[in-house]
Amino acid sequence: MRDNIELTNSGHLFALGVDNRRPFLPGEVVLIGAGPGDVELLTVRAYKLIQEADCVVYDRLVSDDVMALVSDNAECIYVGKQSSNHALPQEDINKLLIEKAQEGYKVARLKGGDSFIFGRGGEEVQVLLDAGVYCRVVPGITAASACTTYSGIPLTHRDYVHGCTFVTGHLKNDLLDLPWNALAREDHTLVVYMGIKTAGALSKALMDHQLPAKTPVALISNGTSLQHRSYKTTLADLPTFIEANSIKAPTLIVIGKVVNALDVSKRAPVKGEIKQILGAWEQNRFEPVQRFAI
Ligand SMILES: C[S@@+](CC[C@H](N)C(=O)[O-])C[C@H]1O[C@@H](n2cnc3c(N)ncnc32)[C@H](O)[C@@H]1O
Repeated sequence: MRDNIELTNSGHLFALGVDNRRPFLPGEVVLIGAGPGDVELLTVRAYKLIQEADCVVYDRLVSDDVMALVSDNAECIYVGKQSSNHALPQEDINKLLIEKAQEGYKVARLKGGDSFIFGRGGEEVQVLLDAGVYCRVVPGITAASACTTYSGIPLTHRDYVHGCTFVTGHLKNDLLDLPWNALAREDHTLVVYMGIKTAGALSKALMDHQLPAKTPVALISNGTSLQHRSYKTTLADLPTFIEANSIKAPTLIVIGKVVNALDVSKRAPVKGEIKQILGAWEQNRFEPVQRFAI
């Protein structure tokens, strides 16, 4: 592989630039980030391509509201994974995508959040490239961004931190093998995906590396969906808090001072005309989002 080259306009159909604007091609697989749950967080491109697809291969974290946008005539194939309980092994998903593309379908590969953030998007794209299948990736809003925003947590508030790191809490070879010295910093935000089962080990390792026991921690479950729940605890209390509140996946863990950055007690009281508007909206808030043309 060469080191110093310009990658755009290299002529192949995997879009590394503006090619991403082209129409959905028959025989193409588009990896589409379906966002964290709230259908209105889809990108405009994702919204359009989901409706154009005639074959949809989708994961567990793709919300029902997003799936409701798929054409009635499209074939929908669930390949969802739940931790170690895989509906379809990754190799079979890869084969399925290639087969459907070779049969001439417009294949939408829907993944929760963003395909390239803990979504195995890189692996799937490489397999498609190797098989000579047209493919591209449409970014989605990742859980770290949407769940924290919906919970009032500004991930990189400059008064508190200099940066933010996304890590996986998933075990590799039975180990939570993370660069603890780099992560256990008070001027830094840590966002942990898939961390519920390993929260005890995570909390202990960070405290062993001198992150204070009182460091604030947020837990955000089913973020942005109608079941969105957010909780606040401390690093020391994290494992017992998860157990006491029966917190399950999908949950994001956010560790750092930014958890307390906003003072929500300053929220304006709901009164007068605003109360009426919100009251009317409350009646319909569970209605599914209508399809609309863009
Ligand atoms: C396999 S990762 C997929 C991440 C996804 N590709 C993304 O960009 O958000 C699954 C983990 O993401 C986090 N996650 C995804 N969607 C979430 C949501 N709506 N609420 C809370 N956590 C979520 C949870 O930590 C979950 O265990």
